Amino acid sequence: MAESLIIPSTTDRKEIYQSLTPQIEALTTGEPDLTANLANIAAALKEAFHFFWVGFYLKRDNQLVLGPFQGPIACTRINFNKGVCGHCYTTKEVVIVPDVEQFPGHIACSSASKSEIVLPAFDKNGDVFLVLDVDSDKLNDFSEIDAEGLEKVMRIIEGLI
Ligand code: SME
Repeated sequence: MAESLIIPSTTDRKEIYQSLTPQIEALTTGEPDLTANLANIAAALKEAFHFFWVGFYLKRDNQLVLGPFQGPIACTRINFNKGVCGHCYTTKEVVIVPDVEQFPGHIACSSASKSEIVLPAFDKNGDVFLVLDVDSDKLNDFSEIDAEGLEKVMRIIEGLI
């Protein structure tokens, strides 16, 4: 396992995702523990992009429950019909929210969070087994470039379960 990440010194997110994705693959390959892998993935994304909050909510019975994350403390449980994470879980789609105040039912874990992106990862039956939530303290901070880059990370995670 690599001991440190190599992050290109650019603000071009596409370039950073291109560099980071194989490193995340290398970081997690051969490690069977999902918690350890999710913890390192959250840390890698935080280190590469300095997002305000990066973390996972895992399906546990009838709720989404907080998993490994980087950033300020966050709400521990989210119902499937609540918030951006719940919306991602029920629609099974990537959700980009440019302004969280405009999203009905958004759960504000921190007032500093202004925009967010949430992506699903699927189990072998096609059911969502976790979501990745990334929050920014800037409005309109996420685009299709983030969706594409982070979707590759979700596909890596699906290979780990
Ligand atoms: N904002 C999310 C809740 C999780 S926190 O942002 C870490 C939501 O509305 O689902």
